[in-house]
Amino acid sequence: MLTARIAVLVSGGGTNLQALLDSQARGALKSGEIALVIADKPGAGAIARAERAHVPCAVIPRREAGFEERVLAALAEHKIDMAVLAGFLGILSGDFIDRFPGPIINIHPALIPSFCGKGFYGLGVHRAALDCGVKVTGATVHYVNAIPDGGRIIAQKAVDVLPGDTPETLQRRVMEQAEWILLPQAAEQVAAGIAEEKEKKL
Ligand code: GAR
Repeated sequence: MLTARIAVLVSGGGTNLQALLDSQARGALKSGEIALVIADKPGAGAIARAERAHVPCAVIPRREAGFEERVLAALAEHKIDMAVLAGFLGILSGDFIDRFPGPIINIHPALIPSFCGKGFYGLGVHRAALDCGVKVTGATVHYVNAIPDGGRIIAQKAVDVLPGDTPETLQRRVMEQAEWILLPQAAEQVAAGIAEEKEKKL
């Protein structure tokens, strides 16, 4: 059975990358193979997670000239079919999205269309949700298009906000109850579609 070759793009601690790696190890993520990790920040915790899992990892600093060209070259070199943004905090240009032929999916730590778009990332998303007083938040996996957090939604999961929550406690609950479950499931769903297409072309 053919599988989709997956690249995971990361910027931070990499707990969502870990959820993907664990899902692959248990056989739940089975239609795709994590073939490359790309970190846009030297020293990101996610790099050590990739190394421990023996997945090739390219560190391409976002601030350096030619960032997107270098990422596209790495994706092509590793014959990547789909990209997963797992705590990747940069915004990819429309040109990049047009030039990468496969799907790109992203996990966002809120229920889109709330608390999303340019400037909403990481703990700031949870801070905004708490400032607003929402009682329910969650996570969303969506396709990436040229509008930040604007692509078609693949999956969402709601999570309760509890009295006394801080951005940190809320972030942790959203990760545990939503992100780490939703992202591997959505990656498997998209990978299965690609694997099926590859089989048909044989
Ligand atoms: C996650 O909560 C992810 O949803 C969020 O950053 C965190 C990264 O954690 N992503 C965004 O805010 C993207 N807009 P991780 O590095 O431990 O996976």
